[in-house]
Amino acid sequence: MQHRSQRITVVGAGYVGLVTGACLASIGHEVVVVDRDAGRIAGLEAGVMPIYEAGLAALVSGEIAAGRLAFTTDLAAAVPGAAAVFICVGTPPRPSDGHADMAQVMAAAGEIAASLSAFTAIVVKSTVPVGTGDEVEALVHARAPAADVAVVSNPEFLREGVAIADFMRPDRIVVGTDDARAAALMAAIYRPLNEAGAPLVVTNRRASELIKYAANAFLALKITYINEIANLCEEIGADVEDVARGIGLDPRIGSQFLKAGPGFGGSCFPKDMLALMKTGQDHGVPLRSVETAVAVNDARKGEMVRKIVRAAGGSVAGKTIAVLGLTFKAGTDDMRSAASLVILPQLQKQGARIVAHDPAGMGQAGPLLPGVLMAKGSMAALAGADLAVILTEWPEFAALDLDAAARIMRRPILVDLRNLVDPDEAARAGFCYRSIGRTGREAELRVPAEAAE
Ligand code: UGA
Repeated sequence: MQHRSQRITVVGAGYVGLVTGACLASIGHEVVVVDRDAGRIAGLEAGVMPIYEAGLAALVSGEIAAGRLAFTTDLAAAVPGAAAVFICVGTPPRPSDGHADMAQVMAAAGEIAASLSAFTAIVVKSTVPVGTGDEVEALVHARAPAADVAVVSNPEFLREGVAIADFMRPDRIVVGTDDARAAALMAAIYRPLNEAGAPLVVTNRRASELIKYAANAFLALKITYINEIANLCEEIGADVEDVARGIGLDPRIGSQFLKAGPGFGGSCFPKDMLALMKTGQDHGVPLRSVETAVAVNDARKGEMVRKIVRAAGGSVAGKTIAVLGLTFKAGTDDMRSAASLVILPQLQKQGARIVAHDPAGMGQAGPLLPGVLMAKGSMAALAGADLAVILTEWPEFAALDLDAAARIMRRPILVDLRNLVDPDEAARAGFCYRSIGRTGREAELRVPAEAAE
């Protein structure tokens, strides 16, 4: 069937807005992405991406060349004539109380209201607390009482690093609206993805808003759960990788998001858990499982520090620690709520000197981690180190030449907080190796005499 191209305006050229705009263009729509940052827009027009995301630069330049994607700073000119205006601006946690800060969403809604012409769907894609759609609707009606408009919730489920694939082949598309015209428009916009197999879930606006938080919180709970099981594995001599596989094959559990590690981080889970927690408390329905997961995840950073210190023989004072990986996960340069931001300063406080390498994150990390020396490559970071820590699961760390690494270090001690390295191979290379929840398979930790003092 012939798909009808829609005119779409996307407000916000950040992570979500850029991926959304470029992907909507690639499924045939005519898209304008608006951002008030003139430098960012000029950069985008010249092919310079403000964020690191695999495949995005090529997609953006291809869609510009095809005439389906354009950028502007002029929101007032980009709204009239658009069938839908997607709000994709930031909703950071408010420092005062942890609630998600809606200032940018409301400012965008106000500006959109001032420029509406014919029927327009205002689509909130930013992650917003339940009830925000009602607030946006009230604001738009107050600013433009005669406007023919429907406010729709359409949460994003994009993982950094694979965001384009997540947009183009989503597990589901969630649309929250009671307005039949808006529902039909959203179905038309997403028809190419829907026809390719992505189910369209249409709910009321509040359910749609909650789906986003409930999904992220569930995933974060799953990670927290396997991290606690990993702790238990270490005590009883089991391998958490085996346990994860053994439970994950039950389709009611599922095998994804059962990778034990230093705790979840990133721009979404920590912020969204906090916002959902606050929403529950505000409505007299405290979400105890979520509150517990947040506390367990916070405490985990300290546990990781203690694990590193134990591996160093009880003290890191005066020792050089090579840290491989700084970003909150692989495939991104994003440092938001990265475990490194908590773990490294604590090690420094205990007297360690830290040399780090990250394939993408050193630019962002530098100013956030004062005193941490940045090395150009893994081997440069490892040279002369007393201990190495793998903190992010970058593939190049999994492919590390362990024999060379052990030779180049002052003491071959490796703490692998992502279970990237095979314990037997680490032992063969001569490493004293510690990982997460795999005591059953790990070689005895042979702490060199000087380290154990
Ligand atoms: C997350 C969700 O996965 C997306 O579906 C959602 O759209 C996005 O948040 C958002 O709300 O915008 P993202 O933050 O990019 O995406 O990263 P994830 O891949 O989900 O990882 C989050 C954290 O959990 C990372 O620190 C990662 O290392 C950790 N993690 C993930 C584990 O420790 N174990 C796992 O098995 C999976």
